[in-house]
Amino acid sequence: MSIVRLPGLIDVHVHMRQPGGDHKETWSTGTAAALAGGFSTVLAMPNTTPAVVDEASLEIAADLAAAGARCDFGLYLGAGHGNAGAVGALASRSAGLKMYLGQTFGDLRLDDQAVWSAHLDAWPENEVVAIHAEGSSLQTVISLAESIGRPIHVCHVADANDISLVAAAKDRGMRITCEVTPHHLFLDVTTPLGSGRAEVRPRLGTPDDRRALWEHLDVIDCFATDHAPHSLAEKDGLDPPPGFPGLETALPLLLTAVHEGSLTIGDIVERFHVRPSEIFGLPTDTDTWTEVDVDAEYQIAASGESRSGWTPFAATPVRGRVVRVVIRGEVAYEQGKVVAGPGTGRDVRMEGRAI
Ligand code: DOR
Ligand code: ZN
Ligand code: ZN
Repeated sequence: MSIVRLPGLIDVHVHMRQPGGDHKETWSTGTAAALAGGFSTVLAMPNTTPAVVDEASLEIAADLAAAGARCDFGLYLGAGHGNAGAVGALASRSAGLKMYLGQTFGDLRLDDQAVWSAHLDAWPENEVVAIHAEGSSLQTVISLAESIGRPIHVCHVADANDISLVAAAKDRGMRITCEVTPHHLFLDVTTPLGSGRAEVRPRLGTPDDRRALWEHLDVIDCFATDHAPHSLAEKDGLDPPPGFPGLETALPLLLTAVHEGSLTIGDIVERFHVRPSEIFGLPTDTDTWTEVDVDAEYQIAASGESRSGWTPFAATPVRGRVVRVVIRGEVAYEQGKVVAGPGTGRDVRMEGRAI
């Protein structure tokens, strides 16, 4: 056993499914999965039912999160067709504005470039705009943002072309940051998952895409799971929704890469703690940390704390186990047991909320 202590890990991209999708995940089950995966803070996406797009829906989501969360959290607001401008008033209470410019789960997709520009113009410059876009729409939104000096954060960069677009924008001096998911780093189209289970957006890339992501590690600001739980019945059904659960497998997979020499512990800390807290302006706390046993060898279990009840990484041999998570001085997870109860997590933007 060899215990390494990491600072509080932040996953800037998760989908909790409340309101509207409790059978897939709740704040209670999703944050139990976060703790089991070694995370102390999660930032949740707005494509719930209803979507989080205005004050009323933000209040509903924030109340559910406050009641259910076992770790700290933030909530994104969704960019809609009619809320550019109005949504900016809620910026200080949110983790950021999420803009869906490509194929996704839910109905937040924006296909009118005039609406993209309206949001990029109106959202406060010092608050994050997180973009779901690939290929030509990624290229377009980079150009639009660059032309007005608007910083953007690109979600789940998944292929060789898109990581090159981000690298080139960084080289030009644009204020652009990005995240990459463990599933795009460790899986590709050759991985035999079964057609419904393999559905995810962005899609898994080719082995060359995967290699390109690893080769551009210096361009990757954050790792983020894009934890997107759907039930097994849905994944194996006739119209499988896209998404993989990822909170409980990210750290073991990345620690295995450390063991194999393709990553350092410092690379993980940089991308799951340092850059997320810098980019999203999140508080860091020396009484919040995660302990991992970097020697533990085992196979990833078929399911864990997430209500989704499956993982694309089942039976993958890994090296590295989460043994303890401490949040603000309190043990939240220890030796395989979730200790923190629902409602113990705090909204990281609470100071901005009207009480
Ligand atoms: O695979 C995905 N799942 N991609 C998305 O953009 C949305 C997500 C979800 O919410 O299930
Ligand atoms: Zn997305
Ligand atoms: Zn997502």
